[in-house]
Amino acid sequence: MFEQDESKNIDSILIQIWIDLGHGALKGRHPYHTPVLATQGENGPDARTVVLREADFTRRRLISHTDIRSPKVRDLRRHQSVAWLFYDRGGNTQLRILGSARVLHNDERARERWEASAARSRECYRAALAPSTPASSPTPPQPLECGFENFAVIDCQVESVDWLYLQHSGHLRARFTWQDDQWQSSWLAP
Ligand SMILES: Cc1cc2nc3c(=O)[nH]c(=O)nc-3n(C[C@H](O)[C@H](O)[C@H](O)COP(=O)(O)O)c2cc1C
Repeated sequence: MFEQDESKNIDSILIQIWIDLGHGALKGRHPYHTPVLATQGENGPDARTVVLREADFTRRRLISHTDIRSPKVRDLRRHQSVAWLFYDRGGNTQLRILGSARVLHNDERARERWEASAARSRECYRAALAPSTPASSPTPPQPLECGFENFAVIDCQVESVDWLYLQHSGHLRARFTWQDDQWQSSWLAP
């Protein structure tokens, strides 16, 4: 969250954004825990809520988990460009983050993240039906034995962050773009 006196220093804003994203990844009740991830689908844009699993400032990474069988994976394999949308109502802040995502599946990093996942989270990947498969009943069929084979990691490298901070004394907006191996920052009209 931003302290009033911090909000005019553009460099401290970017650091605070990544601190907040880190909290979002770790804390289930944090407003940044469940962002919207938008992809380019076969028939146009598509968007859905996901859980933010990791935010790494130094590597410019946002990480989420998904089912390899889900339509968004097909989208990501065609178009790597993604948009993330975060909204912190209490903190009056919106983040629009653009990046390039790849899907990790059945490799060492996917295995590490699978091992570190809670049993409850792993359950989702044991579903016998692929996500979005038309089903004849709301009751799921017998789950699969393991689930790792369906587990995938969405690994997104962040290219830009658009920050909007709402306040009565005048909204603030800034954009941070990764260019020439460093963050370039600029104020925008809100
Ligand atoms: C609070 C919440 C958290 C979710 N987290 C994830 C997630 O981390 N990964 C995921 O693939 N789907 C997650 N979903 C389900 C997606 O929103 C979506 O319905 C599903 O992944 C199918 O998306 P697709 O058809 O675009 O592939 C979540 C849904 C909600 C409501």
